[in-house]
Amino acid sequence: MTDKQHRIQALIYSIVTYFQNHGVGMCGVDLTLDRLKGIDLSDEKLIDLPPQETRHDEVLKNAIAGIVAPELRDIKIHLAAAKDDLIWREDNAQFYPPGADLGEGYAKCNLHTLLIGPAACGYQHPGFRLGIFMMGPRTLYRDHNHDAPELYLNLSKRSGWRFGTPDWQDYPAGSFIWNAAGRPHAIRVYEQPFLSVFVWLENVNSLCNVIPSDDWAEVEQDLAKQPN
Ligand SMILES: [Fe+2]
Repeated sequence: MTDKQHRIQALIYSIVTYFQNHGVGMCGVDLTLDRLKGIDLSDEKLIDLPPQETRHDEVLKNAIAGIVAPELRDIKIHLAAAKDDLIWREDNAQFYPPGADLGEGYAKCNLHTLLIGPAACGYQHPGFRLGIFMMGPRTLYRDHNHDAPELYLNLSKRSGWRFGTPDWQDYPAGSFIWNAAGRPHAIRVYEQPFLSVFVWLENVNSLCNVIPSDDWAEVEQDLAKQPN
């Protein structure tokens, strides 16, 4: 096993350990841990692909520096160590039906890496995805849903979420968000970038449907006005 593979594996293990220590008993976390039990995360199964850097590296560095919750320390250390080993990608049209309107903010700065999943840089799996997701500051990830049940672990200090209603609620670092299949969700990112672990448990090739809401422009204007 190379040093690079070792760093990627250590990152994955730190995430699984967080799930085990902080999420047992929560629906989405238990389901995720059940799925992970059936996936071979041994040294032999680790793959070795060339890393792919990102034009958003400065934002990513800031996002990692913004992980300050003590219980997320291990994930932070291993993510910082493995950052340049990973394959970073931006969401593109393949995840959405033609004509989906995600907005300029999202297109400007979204980023993810897949640690387990199809074409992942840790362990290949055709029916499961686990990775890291980032969005730039002052971004609205517009309301959407998908057939894939989804778990988020929020790494950044504060992020706004709503689930099919006009009202927003802030979630702290270390919180879990469980989106059962089809549940609408939207995220608003304040003055610091948003960073999370995400898991898609099944239907991993399903498309994201954007769910129009008439307050998007207003929300985006409010985010632009947030103080630094
Ligand atoms: Fe989602």
